[in-house]
Amino acid sequence: MYSVAVVGATGVVGQQFLVALDNHPWFKVECLAASPRSAGKPYIEALKGSEGEVRWFCDEPIPEGFIDMEVEDSSDIDPSDFDLIFTAVESDVASKIEPRYAEETPVVSTASAFRYEEDIPILVPGVNDGHTRLIEIQRKRRGWRGFITPIPNCTTTGLVVTLKPLMDEFGLERVIMTSMQALSGAGRSPGVLALDIIDNIIPYIKGEEWKVEIESKKILGSIANDRIEPADFKISCTCTRVFVKDGHTEVVYASLKRRASIEEIKEAFISFGESVFKDSGLPSAPRRFIVCFDDPFRPQPRLDRDLYGGMAVAVGRIREDPALENGVKYILLSHNTRLGAAKGAVLVAELLVKEGIV
Ligand SMILES: NC(=O)c1ccc[n+]([C@@H]2O[C@H](COP(=O)([O-])OP(=O)(O)OC[C@H]3O[C@@H](n4cnc5c(N)ncnc54)[C@H](OP(=O)(O)O)[C@@H]3O)[C@@H](O)[C@H]2O)c1
Repeated sequence: MYSVAVVGATGVVGQQFLVALDNHPWFKVECLAASPRSAGKPYIEALKGSEGEVRWFCDEPIPEGFIDMEVEDSSDIDPSDFDLIFTAVESDVASKIEPRYAEETPVVSTASAFRYEEDIPILVPGVNDGHTRLIEIQRKRRGWRGFITPIPNCTTTGLVVTLKPLMDEFGLERVIMTSMQALSGAGRSPGVLALDIIDNIIPYIKGEEWKVEIESKKILGSIANDRIEPADFKISCTCTRVFVKDGHTEVVYASLKRRASIEEIKEAFISFGESVFKDSGLPSAPRRFIVCFDDPFRPQPRLDRDLYGGMAVAVGRIREDPALENGVKYILLSHNTRLGAAKGAVLVAELLVKEGIV
């Protein structure tokens, strides 16, 4: 078993980490860490808000083994005590603690702090496994025994999983995407106030559109001269917040390099989705990465976000788009805190173990 720490264990993503890692066949959680506010408290106490209420956001109950575990201060932990560290903290905190940890130990991060650096890959297993090659370059360049591998922004993940088969089969010229993002995507502190979002749509999420645009091109890019050459399609995103607890919905319009029928596009989604993790042996990999619906009323967050344990991207309403050259349009849904955060990060760690990098 690999000994792991979860840093930011009390937050929305940290909680999902504990659900994803409870009884994991390869990883054993030996440390929960968070801010000084939580340090020294049993986990259940650290989850409490100002009125003493337990703030737990997963659909599953709190895994029993963690309830009384003492939370440590993220600044005090010795990274060399662990084989691997998962981090789920905001970017400003990540930018300080992750390099300290990575000097000794591999870090799989959900934060954006290091995503845009040249020697750091943004990994999505099944989409850009070859980018793990950058890890050795990163270690050498920085003189670290460990390394940092961030996962993407949760909105990027569903998008790149669906763009990958389109790019490979037909080529991509341009992509236009509008998201309707769930409340849990904003985290628990401060999160989104109920009075701001009930009966409302918030048309702006700070920094999000830029992240999705840059990350998509980096993830779908190729390695040349020890760095990633971003994919050459044009991309334009609008990101909004809606009154949904979990699951980001995205409307995607894509202009392909060559014309493809709707049947060919569906076939590309389905065959990629069914083959990508076949015989991978990764415990958190879904049997189908993309699930296509013919029913025009799907996908819906409440019905479809938990498909294959929240690790599949649901796609529907696939149609030709007459406004774009070789245009196609579709709607996708992916779970932002499972595939898009904690369980997606656990899948990255599993890939790194399988490839002998951890
Ligand atoms: N929510 C999503 O859907 C999602 C998806 C993908 C990626 N992400 C990224 O994942 C990260 C965590 O997001 P979240 O939604 O889980 O946020 P969150 O609910 O606000 O949780 C933040 C966590 O960071 C801890 N923390 C705060 N200050 C700290 C410090 N100085 N040292 C150590 N820990 C500290 C908090 O601990 P205390 O309880 O002690 O304050 C808490 O555990 C962010 O970078 C976010 O952008 C989020």
